Amino acid sequence: MVMYKNLIATAVRRLTPAGLLALGISGPILAQTDPGVRGGAINGQTGATATSPLPLASVTANSPQGVSEFFQNGLTRFVTPEVVSGGTNNGLGPRFNFNSCTGCHSQPTVGGSGPSANPEFTVVSSGIASSSTNTVPSFITAHGPTREARFPFFFDAVGGVDTSSPNGGVEDLYTVSGRSDAGSCSLQQPSFSAAQQANNIIFRIPTPVFGAGLLENLDDSTLLNNQTAQANNSLGISGTFNRNGNDGTIARFGWKAQNKSLELFAGEAYNVEMGITNEVFQNERPLPGEEQQGPGLPSSCLNLGGAGYPEDATNFQPTNPQQAGSDTFALNAQIPSDTVQFAMFMRLLAPPVPSTTTPGGASSISQGSSLFSSIGCSVCHTPSLGHTQPSNITSSLGGATAHAFTDLEIHHMGTGLADNVSQGSAGGDQFRTAPLWGLGQRIFFLHDGRTTNLLTAIRDHSSSGSEATQVIDNFNNLSTSQQQAVLNFLRSL
Ligand code: HEC
Ligand code: HEC
Repeated sequence: MVMYKNLIATAVRRLTPAGLLALGISGPILAQTDPGVRGGAINGQTGATATSPLPLASVTANSPQGVSEFFQNGLTRFVTPEVVSGGTNNGLGPRFNFNSCTGCHSQPTVGGSGPSANPEFTVVSSGIASSSTNTVPSFITAHGPTREARFPFFFDAVGGVDTSSPNGGVEDLYTVSGRSDAGSCSLQQPSFSAAQQANNIIFRIPTPVFGAGLLENLDDSTLLNNQTAQANNSLGISGTFNRNGNDGTIARFGWKAQNKSLELFAGEAYNVEMGITNEVFQNERPLPGEEQQGPGLPSSCLNLGGAGYPEDATNFQPTNPQQAGSDTFALNAQIPSDTVQFAMFMRLLAPPVPSTTTPGGASSISQGSSLFSSIGCSVCHTPSLGHTQPSNITSSLGGATAHAFTDLEIHHMGTGLADNVSQGSAGGDQFRTAPLWGLGQRIFFLHDGRTTNLLTAIRDHSSSGSEATQVIDNFNNLSTSQQQAVLNFLRSL
């Protein structure tokens, strides 16, 4: 019976709508479909808008006093574009992917994932950047996923892929060369077309940061206890943690859980995505090849901002008292570096709020939630991981439950998802169980943004060597309406 249903489903999937009509097949047999991007505010039913996502409740209540000014200040910095030199926010480049955090983190609002109009497609053709010498790579399209690119392996001297020489670092898309604010710095973009021809390129899309402060504030013991509790499943699932190389505790941010904390991620993103050195990452970043096989960056491309290093630093004398008015807390919030304030903004950002009724109605959503657990998705996508540790920053961060649908473990996901990039203890086919909160309002799925269809995202979990294969078989064996309930549930998140 089940096999028969799957055969039909497979046959139906291969047909175009016109083909289906010719067969007289229509209506319910067309089967389960992704309900699509859910509307509404992400992290609060009222009050959250495109430019102002909501902070945690205690931040809204300004407890402790001043915390709300720090949140607002961090938000402002997160959305502010940077230039190379001569502006109020300098230091961009010499290599970069985009000129603000929010460019890549904006769906459905500030802090999210990549939007439908890909900002990387237009960033070098407008304003001061339009005189730059950049070519937009073919994998950056007007409405495709916002991406960063990595080459899994270095190329050898004659342009072949050297599989004995792992690379995996980010290859920034653009340079500042040719811009009027970039002096005589002249750099080439990486040869993306050659990398594509050699099949030596992989992509990553932005992960959203709503509720990230709660994930940061889970004690390791909470994660270790959950790992023990899930260990004796009969589904072939076993996860491990990606541990921080410096202190040995569990790292948790990024597609491979490669980064320990929001501040570390903020410092790294500022330098890698935008080329802005900071107190966490003090040195200008060349491409992996320039760094490991060449002389680094030419001196004509160093200190382009003109103020020395790090380009982002603590502001000992807050310079914008007008903006603060008589509010000393607003003035205080200007003192930390951008990096510290990016991290603070992300840490204080409220988690996504799921819908109880949309899409598909309350009973389908709750059926989908039960099935999600009973077929085994929840062994990896653990609905919540117990309480966060007490917080010395603001009370909402402490004793809270993060409904993130992740175990924060890394799992082997098989040949179909493997990107052959190792980061810390995560190998080429290992990924962090993607947190599913906020999924209902996401456009692109999986680490490389390969699909906008939830059903494809689920089916792509299954390939040779994947720990998820048996669970995906369970999913495929559900009836059409049960699968629809799971999809409705996922889009309610
Ligand atoms: C060019 C696009 C781009 C820009 C600009 C960008 N990011 Fe990201 N961000 C990404 C991508 C891609 C990832 C996933 C990286 C990975 O795991 O390989 C990511 C992941 C993150 C994460 C990890 C969240 C999690 O839970 O996994 C944080 C935190 C983050 N970015 C912060 C920032 C900050 C702060 C800035 C500005 C300084 C910034 N990003 C600018 C693309 C971008
Ligand atoms: C073995 C652990 C495991 C199981 C079981 C599992 N997942 Fe996942 N899931 C992951 C990992 C790891 C990723 C990220 C993979 C990637 O991007 O390459 C992921 C990604 C996803 C995504 C995309 C999220 C995003 O941010 O793009 C969805 C949707 C999803 N899972 C749903 C499900 C559903 C539904 C089930 C059950 C039918 C399930 N998963 C079972 C580990 C698992």
